[in-house]
Amino acid sequence: MVIYLSKELIVRLITVGLLHYLNVDAYIADLRQNYTLTGLTKADIDSDPIKQFQVWFQKALDGDVIEPNAMTLATATPEGKPTARIVLLKGVDAQGFVFYTNYESQKGQQLTTNPYAALVFLWKKLERQVRIEGKVEQLSTAESAKYFQSRPKASQLGAWASAQSRVIPNRQVLEQKLTELQEQYSDDVIVPLPEHWGGFRVIPNRLEFWQGRPSRLHDRLVYDLQDDGSWSIDRLAP
Ligand SMILES: Cc1cc2nc3c(=O)[nH]c(=O)nc-3n(C[C@H](O)[C@H](O)[C@H](O)COP(=O)(O)O)c2cc1C
Repeated sequence: MVIYLSKELIVRLITVGLLHYLNVDAYIADLRQNYTLTGLTKADIDSDPIKQFQVWFQKALDGDVIEPNAMTLATATPEGKPTARIVLLKGVDAQGFVFYTNYESQKGQQLTTNPYAALVFLWKKLERQVRIEGKVEQLSTAESAKYFQSRPKASQLGAWASAQSRVIPNRQVLEQKLTELQEQYSDDVIVPLPEHWGGFRVIPNRLEFWQGRPSRLHDRLVYDLQDDGSWSIDRLAP
């Protein structure tokens, strides 16, 4: 098949393509921010990394960071092939960091076969990130049920309606399923916890607190769990 293009059209295509290439790529390469808000020293931080996390989390709340509990969750297959996505932190205490999901989703299956994860919080407005690594365990059914029952009904039904991470033919099947569930669980009917849904807890053995600094000389303080249960604290080069 031969497609005839006029000279004007060819010139236009080349110009638009070139401009697009030049502008977007140059623009991306030129995006940079100098971080100047504050610094971080060992004297500033708590000897307990969970307490330190709670202090920074409160600062993120006070600083009006949008969805400060949004975190990147990295998991991997047993062969070590990584995947990452955003989930919401729903609890943190001395035991670890809790989030909820579908146990049969991609992440759910990976965490079941390879129970290790990494979390990253970005609190851009504060020029901070926190990185967490650790072993993962499933919450008890009682713990998951308690949280599930605290969720809005629409979210509860959503958990039932969505076979998370599976291929579906179209959006209508989801909406149809939700309509059926809304009829099944009318106002006064308690929605039970789905077997395939619940929480995971990341039990940290390493946490890094990162504060952006000028000239890319950022502050990085990392806690590592020792055999005796104490935490070492080291400064890392940025
Ligand atoms: C801000 C935000 C919060 C999210 N929170 C959750 C969550 O708490 N749990 C969850 O399963 N998915 C959450 N998601 C959706 C996930 O990013 C992801 O699309 C989904 O869990 C499927 O991931 P998977 O196929 O890798 O298992 C969230 C997405 C965004 C953008």
